[in-house]
Amino acid sequence: MARYTLRVNGEKHEVDVDGDTPLLWVLRDELGLTGVKYGCGVGVCGACTSHVDGVAARPCVRTAAESADAAITTVEGLSRDGEHPVQRAWRALDVAQCGYCQPGQVMAAAALLARDPDPDDAAIVAALRDNVCRCGTYPRIRAAVRLAAR
Ligand code: FES
Repeated sequence: MARYTLRVNGEKHEVDVDGDTPLLWVLRDELGLTGVKYGCGVGVCGACTSHVDGVAARPCVRTAAESADAAITTVEGLSRDGEHPVQRAWRALDVAQCGYCQPGQVMAAAALLARDPDPDDAAIVAALRDNVCRCGTYPRIRAAVRLAAR
């Protein structure tokens, strides 16, 4: 057990955890950020997708110790300066079905648009192909990314 200072959604937090604790559990259990979803726990489903230093990352396969100096943004922090265009598009097109994977989908889409404000369909598919949606909302997800990019 050690103390780590994490920068999450623009605020510093001190947490006392084992250094190898997955960041996913620190965010959910220590900081109450339950928008970060647990799906597979091994980095393949995308449910936990958040941003680390502005890039889409998977907190289930990143440790607390590795995260100490990073700027972490969860879906809760995406709208801290007002509703993010991706979230607005998601609502406008009623993308979510069961909703479980959607925070991760939104965070992957936001990271894509941050680095490529006008992605073509191939870029959208490439950026989101490792975010699994068991309801199959992929056509609406792609449409919402295109809407958010306008
Ligand atoms: Fe992190 Fe599946 S829970 S990728």
